[in-house]
Amino acid sequence: MARLPILRYPDPRLHTVARPVAAVDERVRQLVDDMLETMYAADGVGLAATQLDVHERVIVMDISEQHDRPLVLINPEIVARSDETALAEEGCLSVPLVYDRVERPARVTVRALGRDGQPFELDAEGLTAVCVQHEMDHLVGKVFVEYLSPLKRERIRTKMLKKTRDEMRGK
Ligand code: NI
Repeated sequence: MARLPILRYPDPRLHTVARPVAAVDERVRQLVDDMLETMYAADGVGLAATQLDVHERVIVMDISEQHDRPLVLINPEIVARSDETALAEEGCLSVPLVYDRVERPARVTVRALGRDGQPFELDAEGLTAVCVQHEMDHLVGKVFVEYLSPLKRERIRTKMLKKTRDEMRGK
């Protein structure tokens, strides 16, 4: 397995629309394993392939405290969403140290393929619902800060560019 670099907002590659996975083969399983390793190493609860500059419909998640309940969703599709919405604080490995509240459907049903290539359905609520919708947004090129006001987004953009510059100077 390998850890891969995570794209940072406002990298334009984060706005790429991912294509469906044609077959869950050894290459895709390797990608899934690399994504899980990268997510765990960064202490995240979710990661989309888009964030690693791989533009295929693959997401991984693990909201367990022990980091021992990995969830892999390949070609995920939302098949039902609740009218009821919920407001939750979100963060993103591509926007480090930024957290803000986003309103989304409180519950969603998602159909996807697992790491074994088998189809399954997931009824998600709470943090799982937030996470799966956040990660699926990445696959269509959307970062959660796009739900925030233009002013907040501009501040975040400036902050991220500065952080990247500082890191390159070794600060
Ligand atoms: Ni994210």
